[in-house]
Amino acid sequence: MITHYASVGLPTVSLAGVRQFYGDRLAFPIESETPERIVFRPTPHFALAFTDSYTPTAPAHLAFEVASSAFEEAVSRLKEAGVPPLRWEDGSEVDRSETGRNVYFRDGDGHLLELICHEYVRESVLPACGPFGILYLREAGFPLADMPSFREWARRVLRMKTAKESDDFTFAIGGTAHAVLVAKTRRWIPIAMAALPPAIDTVFGVPDGNCLNEAEAALAAEGVPYARSGGEVRFRKDGYDWTLRLTADFPPDLPARLGLPLSR
Ligand SMILES: [Fe+2]
Repeated sequence: MITHYASVGLPTVSLAGVRQFYGDRLAFPIESETPERIVFRPTPHFALAFTDSYTPTAPAHLAFEVASSAFEEAVSRLKEAGVPPLRWEDGSEVDRSETGRNVYFRDGDGHLLELICHEYVRESVLPACGPFGILYLREAGFPLADMPSFREWARRVLRMKTAKESDDFTFAIGGTAHAVLVAKTRRWIPIAMAALPPAIDTVFGVPDGNCLNEAEAALAAEGVPYARSGGEVRFRKDGYDWTLRLTADFPPDLPARLGLPLSR
């Protein structure tokens, strides 16, 4: 049902700082800007929005998928842009797994950002955007008081698939979107950062009205209040704002064409 992250919204204590970091250093194109809000569009299918706020900011975690062939260049460009990668305890900056590589860094509000690549991702399917060759937003992080029960809920109501399950960590997956579900007691890597729940507004794309109908029925059956309007179903669950949005321009077979393991 869910095909991708259509947008993520975060509060910021400095729109000017956000503009410098995402606009100048990361070269994310600006889609719109007002005195209260700035929206970047790092890829055609994903918008990253920041709204001016007078509240303390809990750091969010976002990971951008980049093409494997562009990864080393992306890390170099990050450093050239004056963005220092975070280090693991052994001093290394790039982590390697069985399927890929990743590097972490932070923005001016302390959000924990990541560039990640996977060898199984086919590179010709999506355009590699900007100086870092970003393909899509892969991850957003959600610290939860009761992670296992939210994991079951995401499976049941949002029809998400799950991977890498443990007591304190799970990927809940819909298409290219990986929701990183973590227990609040687990710290983010690589700098052992406390997992405070961020004020993140998450919009998932769905391909057709049937998906919205199914979600509406499932939310009603679970007793979760929701609002449906203009091709969107919005609801609040476990302290987070979630939206399912009709995004007919995102091909539903794209995750499979990318070669993502759980997309079939
Ligand atoms: Fe991550």
